This record gives sequence, structure tokens and C-alpha cells, in this order.
Amino acid sequence: MRKLFIAGNWKMNMDLEGSRKLVADIKAGLGGTKHDIGVFPPFVYLPAVVDAAKGSKIVVGAQNMHHEASGAFTGEVSGKMIQNVGGTHVILGHSERRQLFHETDAFINRKLKAALALGLGAIVCVGETRDERDQNVTEQVVGGQLNGSLAGITPEQAEKVTLAYEPVWAIGTGLVATPKQAEEVHKFIRRNLAQMFGEATAQKMRIQYGGSVKPDNAAELLSIPDIDGALIGGAALNAKSFLDIIHNAKEK
Ligand code: PGA
Repeated sequence: MRKLFIAGNWKMNMDLEGSRKLVADIKAGLGGTKHDIGVFPPFVYLPAVVDAAKGSKIVVGAQNMHHEASGAFTGEVSGKMIQNVGGTHVILGHSERRQLFHETDAFINRKLKAALALGLGAIVCVGETRDERDQNVTEQVVGGQLNGSLAGITPEQAEKVTLAYEPVWAIGTGLVATPKQAEEVHKFIRRNLAQMFGEATAQKMRIQYGGSVKPDNAAELLSIPDIDGALIGGAALNAKSFLDIIHNAKEK
């Protein structure tokens, strides 16, 4: 069975002291959880957060990266730089990157290939907007994002990739997909992964749900067979709510 992967995407939030304290509090409250746990702070706090997470099972990653190792790319940060300060994971193609910074599937695919070549664990985000759901094109949209962002990846590499299904209309809105809505898309994603990489690989790949995950809705979502974790924004900025989500989720 796939182990749950519960991750906090801090987005452009927190300050240095707050970042250290949040990780220290999460670390102190983790207990013997069997779930995989990750935090994704802003780039500049990575070294402090890596340091604060030492000695725990919390993995630390970045929210984005550039596909080149170095060069004339003002304002960008490479995967190698993330590793250099102790980051082991990276989120790619978050809907805020897609919408606000015009990232395309082809660009995300280049980043993914670079991340995998470096051995970084990647979380690749997909999800439809409200309009797309209303027009009944969720599967076309998510299918296109999967095909585009995972193009040219081998089954061996795919095993190191986590998908995050994040309906855009549920992110930061307090609206959450119903368990049925989430389950339908997660099953669809798994079927697509099986077509791309074979059934055995698809069964090993984790698919997180994201979008207004909170302590009061997480346990039900995380009990669904094809939901293998959560990517959490707002509720991951508070140690108690992040820990409540972790502790309320049953092991799979
Ligand atoms: P949210 O964000 O939990 O605040 O909705 C989730 C995400 O964007 O990953």
C-alpha cells in the first residue's frame, strides 16, 4: 500500500523566526507518525528550515525551480542550489505558477526532467478551474496537464514523482472538493498514469489532494483509497492544524 505523504506548501508566507518555530513545533508534535511529512518554505528560508528539521522525518523542499543548473537567469533558483542547502524535494507546476507566472506544461516538463536527473523528489500539480469544471472538461484539462508535464519520463523515474490534484477553485477559497469529486479525479489520474507508465508503476505513485484541506475535512479525504496524501496551504502555516491533519489521518 502507498504510504500517505502529507506536505505543507507555505507559499510566500512566514518570516525567518516563524519558519524555525513552525518546524520545531511540528517536529515536537509528530510523535511516531508513519506518514511521510514534508514542508515547502520560500527559498530564502530553506537553510534555516533544513536545520530546524534535522533529526526528524520531515523532508524539506522548494516551491519551484529552474531547469538549468546555473547561468544568466536573473531571479531564478536551480535544483542544484536547492540541494546545495539541503532541500530534497520540489513542487512543480502549482496552479499559482501556471496562472500568475504563465508556466506551461512543456516548461514544467523541463523542470521535472531536471529535478529527476538530480534525484530530487517532485510533486507535480494538476487541476481544473471552476469554469473548466462547469464546462465538464475536467478530465480533458487534467489529462492534458498529465501528458504534457510527465512527457518522456520513464516508469522508474515516475515512481519518484508525486502528483497533486488541486482543483483551482478549491485553493485558498475554503471550498473543498467533495470526497466523491476528489475520488473521481484521483481514479482518472491513476488510470492515466497506468496508460503512461504501466499498471504496476501507477499503483506505486502517490496522488495527493490539495485545496482547502483542514483538520475537519482531511481524515475523510485521506481515507479514500486513491488519495495518498495532501498538499496543504493555509492549514500548514499553523503547527496545531498541520499536526491535527497528520494525526487524524489513518495509516494505509
Ligand atoms: P490551501 O492551498 O490549502 O490554502 O487551499 C493548497 C495549495 O495551494 O497547495
